[in-house]
Amino acid sequence: MSSGLVVTREGKALIYIPDPRGLVSAGRLEPAWMPVFYNPAMEFNRDLSVLALSSYASLYAPKRPFSLAEPLAATGVRCIRYALEVEEVGRVFCGDIEEEAYRLMERNVAANGLWHKVIIQRSEANALLYGLKGKRVPVLSVDIDPYGSPVPFLDAAISLIGNGGLLMVTATDTAVLEGARRAKAARRYGCRLFKIPQSKEVAVRALLSYIARAAARHDKWIKPLLSVFVDYYVRLFLVVGRSSSKSQKMLEEKVGMLRLCKNSIASFDSCEGGEEIGPLWTGELFDEALLQDMLAKIRARQYLGSYERLARLLEVAREEARLQRAFHQRTDAIAASLKTRTPKLEEIIGRLRERGYDATPTLFSPTGFRSDAPPEEIVSLFVR
Ligand SMILES: C[S@@+](CC[C@H](N)C(=O)[O-])C[C@H]1O[C@@H](n2cnc3c(N)ncnc32)[C@H](O)[C@@H]1O
Repeated sequence: MSSGLVVTREGKALIYIPDPRGLVSAGRLEPAWMPVFYNPAMEFNRDLSVLALSSYASLYAPKRPFSLAEPLAATGVRCIRYALEVEEVGRVFCGDIEEEAYRLMERNVAANGLWHKVIIQRSEANALLYGLKGKRVPVLSVDIDPYGSPVPFLDAAISLIGNGGLLMVTATDTAVLEGARRAKAARRYGCRLFKIPQSKEVAVRALLSYIARAAARHDKWIKPLLSVFVDYYVRLFLVVGRSSSKSQKMLEEKVGMLRLCKNSIASFDSCEGGEEIGPLWTGELFDEALLQDMLAKIRARQYLGSYERLARLLEVAREEARLQRAFHQRTDAIAASLKTRTPKLEEIIGRLRERGYDATPTLFSPTGFRSDAPPEEIVSLFVR
């Protein structure tokens, strides 16, 4: 594919992409119509990933430099950005099943002078990952960034990743993960899910629970570092380690049921008549040290296209990380259940703090908050 290309800049990369003119309908570009997929709206996802990978590399990587695999790479933009923007990244194994994508990756790797670092392959994703494993190539990080569900690729990714490595995962099948398609959620994720006001956190915890159970099949454990729901997708960053005893302990202590209790309160504790959702990941979503490091590092990365939005996300995540074991609640849902007006979020957070509890906003909803206050105490603030 040599004609019909335009060049764009993202992060420190220069990328050839299919000319999007003519693919815009009603002012909207549908990336899936492009001969090779490129979604400019996912620049935020890639900026976040560059920064998270860089902090993981400084804080937790057991070996530096290390290799990374991205087997669903399309134009190769993500692989190229990791190679250019994260100094601890050694080799990047980059693949796509489509011939046109392979040709474009070839052009993009050349345009960025990265033949010594980025190794491209036209391959089915599982074949690429198991191929590296078969050749005993040490790979410490894998990024699974599909269109839809990551499930078909997770076993291979978990099986390849080195001890203490970083798994990065995107899921765009959020209707399923949020509980709007119950039968599919049961088949695909082995979870009983239905839609509740806090469904975005349910989506993140359902995918983490699936990955924890998949890791356990390999005698591995996971530790989430950063888990978010952005726009229309879930994005996770987690460490994967090898140990059958830690894997067993993780399943026993960090995978369980969520209950939808009275007044739309969601809780991991038991409550009267609470309908069950899950199994979900009940453990941590954020690593405070990683967030701190990302916030420190972002200052040196003002070239990032989504710098300001990213900094805001990290500030909120750092605050809510202190209460991450408490499921978030929504002011509008509690008020609706009590048939009362919805108070301002700051008012509820302020009143909880006045009563001696901790409370923070949450990334998962503009009307949501986390608190260590018991449900009765929270509900009492809404009753006039
Ligand atoms: C969402 S796009 C990837 C976007 C890319 N990671 C980025 O950041 O721009 C998904 C890509 O996966 C490729 N793909 C789909 N199924 C595949 C499979 N089984 N093996 C390898 N590639 C596959 C598609 O051709 C498409 O280019």
